[in-house]
Amino acid sequence: MPRFAFDYLDGGAGDEGGLANNRAAFHQVQFVPDYLEQRSDPETATEIFGRSYAMPFGVAPVGLSGLIWPRAAEYLAATAKEANIPFCLSAMATSSIEKIGAIAGEHAWFQLYPLADHGHEKELLDRAKAAGFSALLVTVDTPTTRRGLREIKNGMTVPPKLSLNNLSRIALNPSWALATLAAGPPRFESLLPYFPAGANYASVSEMISGLLARMIGWPEIEALRKHWDGPMIVKGLLSETDIEHCARLGLDAVLLSNHGGRQSESLVHPLDMIDDIRARIGDELKLFVDSGARSGLDVARALARGADFVFLGRAFMYGVAALGEPGAAHAAELLRTELIQIMGQIGCPDIASLPQFLRTQGNRGG
Ligand SMILES: Cc1cc2nc3c(=O)[nH]c(=O)nc-3n(C[C@H](O)[C@H](O)[C@H](O)COP(=O)(O)O)c2cc1C
Repeated sequence: MPRFAFDYLDGGAGDEGGLANNRAAFHQVQFVPDYLEQRSDPETATEIFGRSYAMPFGVAPVGLSGLIWPRAAEYLAATAKEANIPFCLSAMATSSIEKIGAIAGEHAWFQLYPLADHGHEKELLDRAKAAGFSALLVTVDTPTTRRGLREIKNGMTVPPKLSLNNLSRIALNPSWALATLAAGPPRFESLLPYFPAGANYASVSEMISGLLARMIGWPEIEALRKHWDGPMIVKGLLSETDIEHCARLGLDAVLLSNHGGRQSESLVHPLDMIDDIRARIGDELKLFVDSGARSGLDVARALARGADFVFLGRAFMYGVAALGEPGAAHAAELLRTELIQIMGQIGCPDIASLPQFLRTQGNRGG
């Protein structure tokens, strides 16, 4: 893939210290194995919102997916259905709600950035419901623009600047270029009906900022809760008080996230907040985690620290970026193999037992 597309996927905010912190949070989690207890094959199935998934992880929403690899969202949605894991479609993805619904059905979850126009927002959610999406994630952790230094350096705007440098990078990556030519330039397919008539490609950035709500607060979350009658998750929260408020509003889960280190390098990691949050809300809400997980081992680590489910953004996308269509299933299979491998290594029979194998300050978790 061209460098500007890789940097868009791989980069973080500011000095990118957030990326390193996210990895460090996972490295700190260690297991104490039991080798000679009676063992069975590890069971990875997990129930969320009354559905049984084969694995305790899913695909996090990634916007502008077609820039990374054409049809990336479609390949990942097909893999999610096949592997029986959830696939979250970003409202800003370049594959439409209808296309993904037809591919993944109820394995598809819809991620919304609240829109300024509530009529359009309701329509978008009704389209997701009609297309068979089974859960809604509302992302609230992008109240300001982000400073992505790689993107500034690359001239990576929406749409990308076709500088001589970027054109030569496209030319040097013929398989990406040909796949893009075949698929057509990436467009925000789900949002197209809400762009002003006659809008041209060059003004896409302004149109997007006009489309999205400027402020999101509890009234907006409450209104969405009333409109969406399925499971609803708020994505991007980290504080105990915010999460306690979500429990009061009758939400089903929170996805603890620092947006993969993309909004600010200074945000705390979800695994460092999870004990305080659990102490406050108990089991009232499901707690999902993302940000920095790169392997099945990391999935096991997050579950051992108390997460109910784990999402991965870049790990899945790296697979598609490296191999195209087969990369989606390859990434899912790698994650599955690594998860089973670590559970086998420590002697953990099932997902719910993972916390018992955690090394805490003095000793094992218990
Ligand atoms: C290229 C890219 C685009 C993203 N776009 C969105 C988005 O449109 N909506 C959203 O809620 N999160 C978005 N995220 C954040 C992911 O959903 C997720 O929180 C993050 O990738 C988790 O960190 P990880 O990549 O280290 O797994 C994006 C992440 C990446 C890497």
